[in-house]
Amino acid sequence: MTALDPDKEIPRHIAIIMDGNGRWAAARDLPRREGHRAGAESVEDVLRACGDLGVDYLTLYAFSSENWKRPESEIDALMGLLAHFLQEKTPTLMKNNIRLRVIGHLERLPERNRRQVRESIERTAANDGLTLVVALSYGSREEIVDAARALMRKAKAGVLDPEDLDGATFAEHLHTAGIPDPDLLVRTSGECRVSNFLLWQISYAEIVISEVLWPDFRREHLEAAIAEYQRRHRRFGGL
Ligand code: FPP
Repeated sequence: MTALDPDKEIPRHIAIIMDGNGRWAAARDLPRREGHRAGAESVEDVLRACGDLGVDYLTLYAFSSENWKRPESEIDALMGLLAHFLQEKTPTLMKNNIRLRVIGHLERLPERNRRQVRESIERTAANDGLTLVVALSYGSREEIVDAARALMRKAKAGVLDPEDLDGATFAEHLHTAGIPDPDLLVRTSGECRVSNFLLWQISYAEIVISEVLWPDFRREHLEAAIAEYQRRHRRFGGL
């Protein structure tokens, strides 16, 4: 057991790159979709743990803009899982005062999934406990280009003077507008890449790589990542 330090802060915002579902399935001679299914159980466990620990925001990289290149059967399985998760779990989100937000290009999802996501967002909108941010058809470079385009339109329309543009204004045009930057970024399965996830927002995040494959990732592994975060001294570029 890794003990959390009661005198040190719990990260307010944790972002997770859930990786290793495919390898987990391959090691058991199972189809990849079974890895994703098992991964959905980890999502539940981690969500519960974040609620208990008093984390304010949990952002999960569920489907990247690059994931559309995967075989259709795997995409269908992932979309099906997501739809199932939202249908089954929205009452649990309500009971636990969890608000759902989505970042990414939701409009690229099949209509059925889009509807389900929108319904869950609307139903949970007034909850003020943990915010679960799910990245769906999300890519950080696209998000930054989207923000640049929106800002250029405003400049062209004369409602924004380019000289007035600063980091805070730029951040307000990202999909994560209003969400504080992650304090801790966790990637599972031992991979040490950022994979086009929250490039702007993780500027000062502590990065913890867990060797555990996502379907095996549980509260104890999250607590180990938080304990590592607590051991580090965050300086934000100062002394
Ligand atoms: C990466 O593993 C994982 C994904 C691309 C999808 C993660 C999605 C879930 C866990 C489904 C449930 C999510 C929610 C929010 C309900 P990989 O397939 O890249 O694994 P590999 O690197 O071992 O091949």
